[in-house]
Amino acid sequence: MTDRAPAYILALDLGTTGNRAILFNAEGAIVSQAYKELTQYYPQPGWLEHDPRAIWDDTLWAMQTALQKAGVAASAVAAIGMSVQRETCLLWDKTTGRPLHNAIVWQDRRTAPLCNQLAEQGYAAEISDRTGLILDAYFSATKLAWLLEHIQRQQDPPIDLDNVLAGTIDTWILWNLTGGQVHATEHSNASRTMLMNLAEQQWDSKLLKLFGIPGHLMPKIQPSLGLFGYTQPELLGNAIPITAMLGDQQSALFAHGCNHPGLLKCTYGTGCFLIAHTGEQLPLSQNQLLSTIAWTQPEIEREVAGENSLHSRDYKVGYALEGSIFTTGACIQWLRDGMKLITAAADTELMAQRVADNGGVYFVPALSGLGAPHWDMSARGAFFGITGGVQREHIVRSVLEAIAYQVKEVVQAMNQDTSTEIARLKVDGGACQNNFLMQFQADVLGIPVERPKVLDASAQGAAFAAGLAVGFWQDYTALTSSRQIDRVFQPGEGVTQAQGCFPTWLEAVKRAKHWAK
Ligand code: G3P
Repeated sequence: MTDRAPAYILALDLGTTGNRAILFNAEGAIVSQAYKELTQYYPQPGWLEHDPRAIWDDTLWAMQTALQKAGVAASAVAAIGMSVQRETCLLWDKTTGRPLHNAIVWQDRRTAPLCNQLAEQGYAAEISDRTGLILDAYFSATKLAWLLEHIQRQQDPPIDLDNVLAGTIDTWILWNLTGGQVHATEHSNASRTMLMNLAEQQWDSKLLKLFGIPGHLMPKIQPSLGLFGYTQPELLGNAIPITAMLGDQQSALFAHGCNHPGLLKCTYGTGCFLIAHTGEQLPLSQNQLLSTIAWTQPEIEREVAGENSLHSRDYKVGYALEGSIFTTGACIQWLRDGMKLITAAADTELMAQRVADNGGVYFVPALSGLGAPHWDMSARGAFFGITGGVQREHIVRSVLEAIAYQVKEVVQAMNQDTSTEIARLKVDGGACQNNFLMQFQADVLGIPVERPKVLDASAQGAAFAAGLAVGFWQDYTALTSSRQIDRVFQPGEGVTQAQGCFPTWLEAVKRAKHWAK
């Protein structure tokens, strides 16, 4: 093991499907990594839970394994940065550290009836004004309300709420990393709870009351970059400062160098999340996009030495507009695991290329309703245009095309909401390895699509943020522009066909909406 001056940053990427630790060197290159897939629990249709203990155990294992693989001691790590799946939330006992229930995952729809009830009572506009979000079960507020109600109903003797802590995944892992000493979150994750006042960047007392969540359960909100605490020395062999936490989508935005208006990134994961940085002014969407925090950054005062060398005085807020699309990669997974039309996700690229067009087939990917810009939870997935000549390849191609069409809808909404037209789409995430999808995306959008070499942009963003916060790196622009680009997909000969089919796809979406009402 080497034991020299800190030469690495350890990034944690704690996502919906699995937990990963990646060790980055001073050049921003990946040195080693470890990953474990996370078990998904579906207790009822439309419900999805994660075991918080498994998230913590796997995170610790991944950190230890990444360090071991590289032969790097914890003392050589300058800082830890964390990027997490957002909105997923839990409650735990602050004495024992025991979760009081599984975490409820962002995709879980169990609280949709509560959202409908609140909408009927006329709360939607006020919630949106206060939080920038659309009243929906996607966000943490109704999930926390459900958890609190559930544990209070189940526990006998009644639970003492003074002994309960609430949090999103960043908060839970931070609390465990610091041996239960720090109960904190940061603005990008807090902005997804539907409990944070977006203009004030504090928990909104009116909303806490509306959802029945005692304020003392909630973590302290800090800037996304800055000192959160130190890892317990016995976990990794040394105390390492944790100097950045971000929601995974905002973390990817950070990695792409999108820190000013006009730049847009899209992460192709389970869903697709498009985010544009909008500067320091709170953005308002006329097109059903979410207003959210990109990240916040303290005005850092550095003392020359000492463990507590980072003190936040004040912070700078960066806002963003987001279009969240719930099912994109999940549709490919469904082709593989549900329909058994393919054996691996990568098959889709060749299959789609084997046919000249979609054969008249259009897919509406509303497998769990439609997110941005429709927000129609009663929409359901559908294929239109099937005739006797349709082959497997057409079906597969129509699913890939539908992913790109959904992204186009959100880009159009972004362009209508902001004064700076999007001129290039920066992409990351697993599905952007699919060359057919990327080329079709460029064709249907009519703008270049830029794919970086490192597709784990969320982890990279967390590393960059933690490294910049601790002074390991100095210059955000230089750092993010040093990333290598793998390929830029220019709109090409497929433009006419791709754009010509888009109105028909929109018509298919119209027909699939309000299906389950
Ligand atoms: O809002 C949900 C999002 O943060 C989940 O991202 O990458 O874990 O699917 P991912």
